[in-house]
Amino acid sequence: MSKQLAERIKNRSARIGIIGLGYVGLPLAIEFCEEGFRIAGFDISTRKVKLINSGKSDIGDVSDERVKTAIKANALRATSDFAALKKCDVCIICVPTPLSKTKDPDVSYILKACEQVRKYLHKDMLIILESTTYPGTTDELIQPLLEESGLRAGTDFYLAFSPERVDPGNAKFGIENTPRVVGGSTKKCAEIAKLFYSQVVDHVHMVSSTKAAEMVKLLENTFRSVNIGLVNEVALMCDRLDIDAWEIIDAAASKPFGFMPFYPGPGLGGHCIPIDPHYLSWKLKSLNYYSRFIELAGDINSHMPEYVLERIGRLLNRKSKAVRGSKVVVLGVAYKRDISDVRESPALDCIRLLSEHGAKVSYNDPFVPVIEMAGSRWKSQRLTPKLVAAADLVVILTDHTEYDYQWLVKTANLIFDTRNATKTVKGRKSHIELL
Ligand SMILES: NC(=O)c1ccc[n+]([C@@H]2O[C@H](COP(=O)([O-])OP(=O)(O)OC[C@H]3O[C@@H](n4cnc5c(N)ncnc54)[C@H](O)[C@@H]3O)[C@@H](O)[C@H]2O)c1
Repeated sequence: MSKQLAERIKNRSARIGIIGLGYVGLPLAIEFCEEGFRIAGFDISTRKVKLINSGKSDIGDVSDERVKTAIKANALRATSDFAALKKCDVCIICVPTPLSKTKDPDVSYILKACEQVRKYLHKDMLIILESTTYPGTTDELIQPLLEESGLRAGTDFYLAFSPERVDPGNAKFGIENTPRVVGGSTKKCAEIAKLFYSQVVDHVHMVSSTKAAEMVKLLENTFRSVNIGLVNEVALMCDRLDIDAWEIIDAAASKPFGFMPFYPGPGLGGHCIPIDPHYLSWKLKSLNYYSRFIELAGDINSHMPEYVLERIGRLLNRKSKAVRGSKVVVLGVAYKRDISDVRESPALDCIRLLSEHGAKVSYNDPFVPVIEMAGSRWKSQRLTPKLVAAADLVVILTDHTEYDYQWLVKTANLIFDTRNATKTVKGRKSHIELL
């Protein structure tokens, strides 16, 4: 291991560059600042750069106060000028890894970021990729690209992969107390990357290669996708059997071993679970292997908004009403509770489907004031007694904790609850239908 770099990491004089200041990059930058490091944050969005340098955050888990403190102390500076990488000892890449329209991995953001790194790569620099990607990306794509500089990984510079495991909105587990998985291109690379993360993370779990570290993240997210797919299918089966799926899951969860509860819902959202497993199945297709669990779970989960529409149609039909012309108020459009992220949110699909079928849809989300879909702009409506009482149906799509469910159940004529958010409500519940 480079003694000089190790020393600089330990005594906090190492300069850190973080490329991509989004849900992953900004919290990481702030965490390292608070540990005494100086950070150069790189982002191609000039809006984001300006926002951060003015002491503001657009990420729910990072307060304006923390950003302001880091900027004032000169510990953090955001920029779109990658030349500042010249002075960085460590560079962490946290750029998006979306899917193309045909559901193939789009690693163009990683490649663009790495092209910038290659320009300013210097001896003893540690490069870490944190973006979720398919096994082999670091060794097969990034290493050759960086080595075009003439420098060699493992001897001249260090290269590692460490998957980000951030769970937005999770108050219990953050960067410090969530163990880190790290794999290096060589043993030396792994050692220096381990030392680096140990400065801010309580436990670092080493794996044998970058490929293994890439696979760990995909196992974690595939595990969630498949289990959610299973439980969504259980909900579809229980509907046909006229059984309450939530009762079954709660009862099964009373078993103290061998069962872990997952819950059904209107579909998958966010930048991870609906996307990452496809990185793995794409890679496996190139090896002539069809990943059955991933495809099946993806199929079930992605059709849940259509199932929500079907259930709404049935529910209104029982009241001698049609979807067309009915006033439907949607509660919650973020992809999960208590956050503002609407990326891949199934609520957007549900709203689109309801509108396409002629429903008069409005929505409320305390975290999401505006949504934009297919060129139209929707504003969150105030959750007034008038709005709720006038609705033919209220659909709970995201179970934000700040909703007063007791009041909602008392005020609404009819509720379709896709999250079992009304579970603890007391009194009349005959007008509530659960997913
Ligand atoms: N959001 C999560 O909960 C989460 C959790 C774990 C892992 N991840 C993974 O981490 C990665 C980043 O996700 P995110 O949610 O932070 O994305 P994000 O969209 O919130 O942020 C990415 C940032 O990178 C910037 N960017 C794009 N290309 C760039 C470039 N070439 N140079 C500099 N900046 C660039 C964008 O402007 C944006 O600000 C993805 O691979 C994602 O799968 C995300």
